[in-house]
Amino acid sequence: MPLAKRSLVLALFFCFIFLFLRYHSFSQPAYEPAPIDHPQTEKQSLQQPLPIPSLPDDGWFNWANVKQRYPVTSMIRLPQSNPRSVPQIQHAFAQENADQKRVRMERLEAVKGNFTHAWRGYKEHAWMRDEVAPISGNAYNHFGGWAATLVDSLDTLWIMGLKDEFENAVKAVENIDFTECSLDEINVFETTIRFLGGFLGAYDISGAKYPSLLKKATELGQMLYVAFDTPNRMPVTRWKVKEAKEGLHQEAGSGALVAEIGSLTLEFTRLSQLTKDPRYFDAVQRIMDVFDQQQSETKIPGLWPVVVDAKAAKFNSYRGFTLGGMADSLYEYLPKQYLLLGGSKQYKKLYQDAMVAIDRNILFRPMTKGGENILFPGDVSSDGNTPVTQLVTEPKAQHLGCFAGGMVGLGAKAFRNEKEMDIARKLVEGCLWGYEKSNMGFMPEIIRTVRCDDREYCPWDAEKWEKEVDRQFPQESGSARDKIQVHHLPPGVSKIDDGRYILRPEAIESIFVLYRLTGDPSLRERAWKMFTNTIEHTITDIAHAGLNDCTVPSLPKGDRMESFWLAETLKYYYLMFTEPDVVSLDEFVLNTEAHPFRWR
Ligand SMILES: *[C@@H]1O[C@H](CO)[C@@H](O)[C@H](O)[C@H]1NC(C)=O
Repeated sequence: MPLAKRSLVLALFFCFIFLFLRYHSFSQPAYEPAPIDHPQTEKQSLQQPLPIPSLPDDGWFNWANVKQRYPVTSMIRLPQSNPRSVPQIQHAFAQENADQKRVRMERLEAVKGNFTHAWRGYKEHAWMRDEVAPISGNAYNHFGGWAATLVDSLDTLWIMGLKDEFENAVKAVENIDFTECSLDEINVFETTIRFLGGFLGAYDISGAKYPSLLKKATELGQMLYVAFDTPNRMPVTRWKVKEAKEGLHQEAGSGALVAEIGSLTLEFTRLSQLTKDPRYFDAVQRIMDVFDQQQSETKIPGLWPVVVDAKAAKFNSYRGFTLGGMADSLYEYLPKQYLLLGGSKQYKKLYQDAMVAIDRNILFRPMTKGGENILFPGDVSSDGNTPVTQLVTEPKAQHLGCFAGGMVGLGAKAFRNEKEMDIARKLVEGCLWGYEKSNMGFMPEIIRTVRCDDREYCPWDAEKWEKEVDRQFPQESGSARDKIQVHHLPPGVSKIDDGRYILRPEAIESIFVLYRLTGDPSLRERAWKMFTNTIEHTITDIAHAGLNDCTVPSLPKGDRMESFWLAETLKYYYLMFTEPDVVSLDEFVLNTEAHPFRWR
């Protein structure tokens, strides 16, 4: 090596050391020993990345420099990890034959082709903005103006083998400025799952070879960490970014949605594992300890209500419970956090205690014409006095609740529970029923069904269905038959509360998970039918559009394509047809935006 070059290398080396020391001595609080109820040993992360210095001189505001008003006085460390103690998750797949492979590859190409179509639409019309509007070609900034679709799509690009596009996108990511925001108030949960999850998933799936992704994740993590700077360290979930930048006093909300405060664990934990900075894990573990302490004190012990008081750290007073919107990923993250921590006793217990109550109070069997033995998660409310065995579940099925089949299946494998595998299958069959028995091949956002009194014996009773339909539309004249026609109700559905299909992933997500767990080839066929039908009705010249009403023949499109279409829905359809070792569930957990984090 020539001398000039060698001194350059040496200079760079000392520069790096300087930045490294600077970062570690000034921008982090002094750590105190961990409290005794948490194991002292820090987890060895799977990769051993170099610590990434935060570069101070790029002219941008530096979130790492915001002084904490309420710094933690003791740091909760990552617990000891033993991922090998977790049983094998995926089915042991047999070799496919040439014919099977040909069909599979054709389908894989069709999914990829549609992804590329929408990606091109985003690039041409909305590059570096949050979303492309798939009909008008407008660009929207609903998520802070930080290129949500770009960040959310990174790992899908990699998984689909679009490496040039991926590398271009990684370069573009460096220009995202998290110190400026298009909104006054951001949703901390959405920012965490889409952006932080997007960076971490892309970093992990590409084999830790693109350090700028981890740098960006750290930058965002440093920003989001400021939302936890409240008197009781519970985060502000709807967060006024500009006020926070000015260092104003902030408190957690007294009416936080339980999913928004309860499903930050995977992303913050992975960030601590990769950076070796324990603050992020500490921040979310404090929240989960409150969930843990109050799990048996809620109005339905085992479950947590939809709304919690974060300001008072009181998570047990509200009456409404669901596995659908506003609560969903709280439960989803329990078995996944168990895996990410390499087998954590605490999260196993949280999940198992929740599952007892979910099975008893949330799951219901709808009465169907074909007598299908299926399940949906419904809603329930409790005054706290009625015995939990006497509560009546409202037979409302949300598309958002379709994640449950995948969650219960994953938990059944991780915790070796055959009975729960049966529940998982019935939940997946529930959402498949929602798609397959509908008029247009879509399960809408929210439908109402007729609940079976007996989960084991439930013969079809047309009169009972019609009576229920009548009850749902008391103001309308005409017979139940008329109402069924007017409202396009398939047999067994008593009302469609929300008829949209907005490109959501939850049904295909659970079908994918169940396929990887069981290897059942019929799931691939049914997924393919769902896919072709979905594409046929959503495709536009620019990308794909959600449907304002998926229950009527004309299927009116809406001018929106949320980033989860590329991050989740098309990724899950693609993974249905890859080889099973692509994003193996034995190596990755997927966050609630389908971003893969390595756990084994
Ligand atoms: C999109 O998917 C459909 C199948 O539903 C397929 O026929 C079509 O070729 C795909 N588009 C592209 C551009 O690959």
